[in-house]
Amino acid sequence: MTEASPGSEPQAASNGPLLEITNVSKRFGGLLALSDVSFSVQQGTIHGLIGPNGAGKTTLFNVVAGTFAPTTGKVAYRGADITGTPSHRMASLGIGRTFQIMKPFGSMTVHENVRIATYGRTDSTEEASTEADAVIAMVGLERWRDRSAGELPTAGRKRLELARALGLAPNLLLLDEVLAGLVPAERKPLIDLLKEIRSTGVTMLLVEHVMQAVMALSDEIVVLHHGQMLASGSPRDVIDDPRVIEAYLGEEHRHAEG
Ligand SMILES: Nc1ncnc2c1ncn2[C@@H]1O[C@H](COP(=O)(O)OP(=O)(O)OP(=O)(O)O)[C@@H](O)[C@H]1O
Ligand SMILES: [Mg+2]
Repeated sequence: MTEASPGSEPQAASNGPLLEITNVSKRFGGLLALSDVSFSVQQGTIHGLIGPNGAGKTTLFNVVAGTFAPTTGKVAYRGADITGTPSHRMASLGIGRTFQIMKPFGSMTVHENVRIATYGRTDSTEEASTEADAVIAMVGLERWRDRSAGELPTAGRKRLELARALGLAPNLLLLDEVLAGLVPAERKPLIDLLKEIRSTGVTMLLVEHVMQAVMALSDEIVVLHHGQMLASGSPRDVIDDPRVIEAYLGEEHRHAEG
């Protein structure tokens, strides 16, 4: 394994996983928020990350996205050790994320918000603008292009959050509860959009409480509970696992596929 140098694209290890999390733990004072978490994400797949509130899902995202370093353990991306790489360098590595608590610039337009993301990977304002328009079209926000982000309804803000991450042209997208707060009728089109994004080759790590979406989208699922890995495997294996049902799903979720 080699360390990723600034601004470089780590070379893909042949047939290796895109993201490899090895024995990651994260301590906040007396709280062990993550304890010995290990799993890997294959290129082109969607990996679901589920578990009760406080299980450590967002903490794991923050470790992968470089918001903070793990207390122990390693994060490798395309075969290169990126443990502790600061978040501002993640975009150049091809890692984008959305935030559970959305952070658009409310007084700026939708287009301006997305253009902040496309600026970093383009050579001119004009090109950044064109790229931003392409992303806005992909997420279906054309009608909102010149409206201020603060005016968007919840479903629109979710799409903008996604657009801001897609503006970086990521290889790996970390999605933290993009479906939360949406009514069922709004979920289906967003699930379809995520499928469309996957079909372009983007790999995703998906934190989500909406089981219908997790089941419809995930190739593999990891279940966290009190910072530990409770289970991992195919959606079918995980949803039928008695430990997962007891700790998180409850009986009624067993038929929540959609
Ligand atoms: N920056 C921090 N400082 C101290 N404690 C933290 C910090 N971030 C998270 N925690 C704690 O770590 C634990 C895991 O939190 P985390 O946000 O990762 O859970 P989660 O699985 O994302 O939950 P939810 O489903 O509610 O979003 C919680 O007990 C939380 O209070
Ligand atoms: Mg969270």
